[in-house]
Amino acid sequence: MPSNSLDWKNLGFSFLPTNGHVQADFADGKWGPLQAKKEPYISMHVAANCLHYGQACFEGLKAFATKEGKRVLFRPDRNADRMRLSADRICMEAPSVEMFVEACRMATELNRDFVPPYGTGASLYLRPLLIGTEPTVGIRASTTYSFIVLVTPVGPYYKDGFSPVEAIVLEDYDRAAPKGTGRAKMAGNYAASLKPGVVAKKMGYPIVLFSDPKENKYVDEFGTSNFIGITADGYYKTPESGSILQSITNESLQVLAQDMGLKVSRSAIALDGLDQFREVGACGTAAVITPVYSIQYRERKFTFGKPDRAGETLTRLYQAIQAVQYGEIPDRHGWLTAV
Ligand SMILES: Cc1ncc(COP(=O)(O)O)c(C=O)c1O
Repeated sequence: MPSNSLDWKNLGFSFLPTNGHVQADFADGKWGPLQAKKEPYISMHVAANCLHYGQACFEGLKAFATKEGKRVLFRPDRNADRMRLSADRICMEAPSVEMFVEACRMATELNRDFVPPYGTGASLYLRPLLIGTEPTVGIRASTTYSFIVLVTPVGPYYKDGFSPVEAIVLEDYDRAAPKGTGRAKMAGNYAASLKPGVVAKKMGYPIVLFSDPKENKYVDEFGTSNFIGITADGYYKTPESGSILQSITNESLQVLAQDMGLKVSRSAIALDGLDQFREVGACGTAAVITPVYSIQYRERKFTFGKPDRAGETLTRLYQAIQAVQYGEIPDRHGWLTAV
């Protein structure tokens, strides 16, 4: 589909064909060059390690068209760091930070006409992917890998935009094990979260809040986003847990919250203590912040603010991070990388 036929203001969050992706392959102990590929298909051995043993991890970040007409990536170095952490946890070779950022730049440049124009509220989503490609029948780490950066233009993650959703804690399911792979953005974690997601949707809840897998007493994170809560006495609270993904959106929002004079606390948050929050949000690259109006936990329903409107502090934080991403205010923390 040519980019000039896209309705930028009404994009969803699904894959749209683009000009292509960028790929590099690792073999004989070293990475080959990053190459632009037009066809959105890869050919691999049927016994490839990623297909059988899930040696696969990925990232998600965005490119924005700024007010001044530039194209920028938001904190790609942090995604590179996280991919290296994920790769280490599952014994994979990972690209260096420089190679990762260069691949993101190349993929954005290759698809420059797919970066949604400033003012549309849309962005270009980048999906770096790392997979073990060696045919392995016995279980061991692959010695060959492919690193791919594919892109697709996206609108807001939730079709109703920045409006509150209702969440549920499903204690019959854990997303990750206590000393497992929850901190890694590996493919299998997401397969494990599919079933609880389906169960929750059937019950009428668009998102699931996972509890800590050891005691099921504390908040861990939502299916694809971190938990943040705002208290009446000016705290931005987010859980400290060994089994959650270290969200780059959350990390950035914590800095902006401090800039706004909020106090930031990272410590265990008891599910029984959810009534301390005036506002709750789910944060991540895709939706930035999804306000959460209620959380059903056992027979209790905790509610936060108004069912039809995001709270004041989360709205300010949402606007602040978007203002940086779209270049509307100075990039004081050096988060933008020009393409
Ligand atoms: C499980 C999980 N937690 C949190 C996040 C948010 O992380 P980030 O802000 O880096 O997108 C994501 C999305 O990437 C996720 O999949």
